[in-house]
Amino acid sequence: MPDGAVSLPVEDVGPEGAPPFQPDSLLGTVVAGRYRLSGHLASGGMAAVYVAEDTRERREVALKVLQPHLARSAEAVRRFLCEGAIARMIDHENVVRVLDHGSEGTCFIAMELLEGESLFDRLRRAGPLPPAETVSILVQVCNGLEAAHRQGVVHRDLKPENVFLHGRRGASPVVKIVDFGVAGGAHGEGGDTGLVVGTPEYLSPEQAYGKAGDARSDVYSVGVMAWRMLVGRAPFTADSADSMIRMQAREPVPSVTSARPDLAAHPELVGVVARACAKNPSRRPPTAAALGAELAGSLGRAVGPPTPMPRPSFQRPPGGPVAPPRTAAATATPGVDRGQRLRILAVLALVVGLGVASAALLLHERAPLPDAGPQAAPTR
Ligand SMILES: Nc1ncnc2c1ncn2[C@@H]1O[C@H](COP(=O)(O)OP(=O)(O)OP(=O)(O)O)[C@@H](O)[C@H]1O
Ligand SMILES: [Mg+2]
Repeated sequence: MPDGAVSLPVEDVGPEGAPPFQPDSLLGTVVAGRYRLSGHLASGGMAAVYVAEDTRERREVALKVLQPHLARSAEAVRRFLCEGAIARMIDHENVVRVLDHGSEGTCFIAMELLEGESLFDRLRRAGPLPPAETVSILVQVCNGLEAAHRQGVVHRDLKPENVFLHGRRGASPVVKIVDFGVAGGAHGEGGDTGLVVGTPEYLSPEQAYGKAGDARSDVYSVGVMAWRMLVGRAPFTADSADSMIRMQAREPVPSVTSARPDLAAHPELVGVVARACAKNPSRRPPTAAALGAELAGSLGRAVGPPTPMPRPSFQRPPGGPVAPPRTAAATATPGVDRGQRLRILAVLALVVGLGVASAALLLHERAPLPDAGPQAAPTR
């Protein structure tokens, strides 16, 4: 469980008074007889993420490992394995690709190794993002989310820490959603437990009331992320998780223009963010695809995903098994392409229309009018 997230109390199962988990202590160990941990990338409340060498495939992967003391909790193990199984079902360019997962001695999830930084680090480094960049990143988040929702999965913990900007610095990133640790069913199943699951700053009102939430709950979290990306901070500040949860449940999210009046120059974008952050789920864009399309059209010009970066150059053994290629359908961005096509068609129609009108005017001016007397001649 990431820092700041609220969920089932599996964290309580650690040995009392035990020293905190030292991620470096696992470096050099081999997990599942195959993955040699070579570098520590990040740690959360339940797991740590490492760079590992997949000795069988001779390539580098990212390996998420359940903290060893949590392996004694059946609930923690069940949830971790569930995360691996859920993430493996989703095959989309904008969702981190899970290659393997298991619990042989250590609970692990092997993933494609991403290069770059999380959106959280990006915001910490660069502050608020320009509207076009915000839209470009979030359109990709929506594309990945739509793929998850189509598989019946609600992420339930969308926040900048769980959005990775994959690619080398200076190049346009490919956005990857990570961490399906608290994911549930897209139609609300698997969770009206009365327990609040998620991270308070990004929690939908439904989640704040202890409901599982459906796809529109993720739409709300994307709205709050948009707010944070444009303004540089989340819409609500509170001195405790409890009061933050109460605010998410009841307080309307203020307009981004209250914190950034200059954003009034982008009224459509301001409107989309407000709709995504609506307290009532039925007032939000109904799907991630709908939100993505609204965002893509909100700046008055095509803001599609930036040029994809090449995948990291894993060394594959000659003739060795390779991961299945992604389908064109999975990487397509229908909302944006359709928007672009419509804009091009509209411009073409305008040009053709103007051409026809001026030709007609010219002909009209040059052609002698039947029965026209001198007084009926066109005047200039
Ligand atoms: N495939 C990956 N490649 C590179 N870095 C990754 C990858 N997956 C995750 N990370 C990094 O590790 C961080 C933590 O990952 P993740 O969110 O999955 O774990 P967590 O929040 O610790 O999870 P949990 O809630 O299970 O404790 C991410 O913010 C990201 O910076
Ligand atoms: Mg996380």
